[in-house]
Amino acid sequence: MVGSAGDVTAFRGEILDFTGDPATLGDAAHRHFPDGLLVVRNGCVAALGPAMEILASVPADAVVTDYRGKLIVPGFVDTHVHYAQTDIIASYGAQLLEWLERYTFPVEACFGDPDHAREVAEFFLDELLRNGTTTAMVFATTHRTSVDAIFEAANARALRLIAGKVLMDRNVPASVRDSADSGYADSKALIARWHGRDRLAYAVTPRFAPTSTERQLELCGRLLDEHPGIFLQSHVAENRGEVAWVAELYPWSRSYLDVYDHYGLLRPRAVYAHCIHLDARDRQRMAATGAAMSFCATSNLFLGSGLFDARAAHDAGVRVGLGTDVGGGTSLSMLRTLDESYKVCQLAGQTLSPFRAFYLATLGGAAALYFDDRIGSFAIGKEADFVVLDPTATPLLARRMARTTTLAEKLFAFMILGDDRAVHATHVLGAPAHRRTSV
Ligand code: GUN
Ligand code: ZN
Repeated sequence: MVGSAGDVTAFRGEILDFTGDPATLGDAAHRHFPDGLLVVRNGCVAALGPAMEILASVPADAVVTDYRGKLIVPGFVDTHVHYAQTDIIASYGAQLLEWLERYTFPVEACFGDPDHAREVAEFFLDELLRNGTTTAMVFATTHRTSVDAIFEAANARALRLIAGKVLMDRNVPASVRDSADSGYADSKALIARWHGRDRLAYAVTPRFAPTSTERQLELCGRLLDEHPGIFLQSHVAENRGEVAWVAELYPWSRSYLDVYDHYGLLRPRAVYAHCIHLDARDRQRMAATGAAMSFCATSNLFLGSGLFDARAAHDAGVRVGLGTDVGGGTSLSMLRTLDESYKVCQLAGQTLSPFRAFYLATLGGAAALYFDDRIGSFAIGKEADFVVLDPTATPLLARRMARTTTLAEKLFAFMILGDDRAVHATHVLGAPAHRRTSV
């Protein structure tokens, strides 16, 4: 028996998860149960296996939800997204630096208003759940209120979520600017209030090197040293104009990434979005220090930034997760992100297999965040966050699915044709957090 009925629930259906990276382990990296059972006790995985083998171990009066005909996978992990940019998704006609000035800074300036921040945070997290994303690493804005809003909303939904106050003390409008000292003090207060509370974690968040002084970057390193276990999130080497600007602002640096390295900001739990215009030495430094890359395909295409080199990242041994990067990105759906990731790899002469794609969206993302001991797969004891995918969600998806004969083909159809409509349900700690109702 895996527990008493009161605290045990079970979910029956086709189940898939990963125990490692398919790019390294091949087929040995995944576990697949065509008729499986996922047993959850107190929000964590208590058992997983073929339904016919383990049904007998479930208490007779435990609720067993029947998801047969659907595919159950671990909840998706979005390693880079800006909740405050929800309202400027799909903003026309600019590349990164102009896009920031024209659309991003004005919309982020509104997050000093706690009511506005709360309303956007609620909408944003509901959207994540509608898309099957159960963990995200999130940029707030310069304002402390923006951090309180996203953490309060995440905690109300029992989500495992990382977020932080954006630090920027130069080259931005006054409405979104802090100072090195105020940014340090505000971050410290927010770490004390939120880091380690329930499933929440704090990330020191220097936006990117051009909008921080050297003093601010130095204080970021100090915050990390003073608070072991906290995270860092930033952007690096996204756009060629940005790279040239960093070379002007930091003339002593060997490369853009070297600026962060200089201040001790490459380390485990540091996640850098984009990582497009890097060289071999940069990738080696990321691997050696344990920092992670967030591959943001929809954003990289939408802002015309360039093509992420997934093979080089893998060959260098760097941790990689996927990011939607909304509002630079064009969708909060991890399935849409996998579609565009596949195309980015195609343009780079590489192939993203469906197994590796779903690994990156789940356990790979969790490993990039150093949360793979808690989420990302159905290993016994892990937190039971999962998504239930519907292969018949749309007429075209159903039609294509009918012709699939292998799991790989099925996953590929989900990632190329799927979106929020394919998310039948999302569960957080075993409990239902979203169920699709409309067609
Ligand atoms: N670089 C600095 N800030 C941002 C941002 O908000 N979005 C993207 N895509 N890149 C950035
Ligand atoms: Zn970003």
